[in-house]
Amino acid sequence: LARPRAYQLTDDDVAAHLEPPGDGDDKYSRGVVGIVAGSATYPGAAVLCTGAALRTRAGLVRYAGTAADGVRASWPEAIVTDARPGDAGRVQAWVVGPGTGTDDDARSVLAEVLATDLPVVVDADALTMAAREPDLVRRRSAPTVLTPHDREFARFGAEVGADRIGSARRLAADLGAVVLLKGNATVVADPDGTAFVNATGTTDLATAGTGDVLSGILGALLATGTPPAETAAAAAHLHGRAGQAAGESGPLIAGDLVRRLSPTVGRVRGLG
Ligand code: APR
Ligand code: MG
Repeated sequence: LARPRAYQLTDDDVAAHLEPPGDGDDKYSRGVVGIVAGSATYPGAAVLCTGAALRTRAGLVRYAGTAADGVRASWPEAIVTDARPGDAGRVQAWVVGPGTGTDDDARSVLAEVLATDLPVVVDADALTMAAREPDLVRRRSAPTVLTPHDREFARFGAEVGADRIGSARRLAADLGAVVLLKGNATVVADPDGTAFVNATGTTDLATAGTGDVLSGILGALLATGTPPAETAAAAAHLHGRAGQAAGESGPLIAGDLVRRLSPTVGRVRGLG
């Protein structure tokens, strides 16, 4: 039986996801990202995820999590709201999970985000909760992108095998969601079997918070309505390029990726 092939995006392919705004664009047409990340315990996840979305040329970021003070202090450009995700105003894609914890409130906000008909990035603590209630993902009709590392992946019931693409494809087909399986060999699988293997990145990315940056990048790219699997692969590509740039001068921390994103977008555009 022929398997759909696994693609590798180039800078050129990714540049198409990073077009500069045109004359007719405004903040809404550039994409509005809603973010539920962070908590009193993990405010940094909110700051990193929100900054990454802003720096990936989102038109507007609405922050709807429980680390509002940290986000306000770091990103005056973000709109901080205490509305529930269902009433947060115009949003075109959601990111949910980094540093949210898994208590009853976090679970109910996750369910509300997944009940929208918008693209959703499910990361970190939201993956832990979604693994307990996979039907929250299965019943969606809008795109869902799960972004597990290997341990988060295993919570869905099967370890990541040597065949990372095969593992990601099986979970994607089971849940009807795009699976971006992170690590040294990041792969993306669509429920239809299409897969992408990431060609960028560096082991310097193995440091706390870099995943929170990836989910913010991905939210911003999904907010323009592009196909979710290729968009997830484009996000991993850009994240890896930012990591390579930040790692050139020495050890990087996750905030360096955010600071490098804007010039990296410029560079990828130039190469494309
Ligand atoms: N080589 C290349 N890339 C790597 C490597 C490596 N050896 N190790 C990690 N990376 C990349 C991954 O591909 C991913 O993009 O770094 C990023 C790490 O993301 P996460 O594993 O989500 O790490 P982190 O940001 O610390 O997560 C924050 O969420 O996943 C939970 O348990 C985690 O609570 C923590 C929080
Ligand atoms: Mg993570």
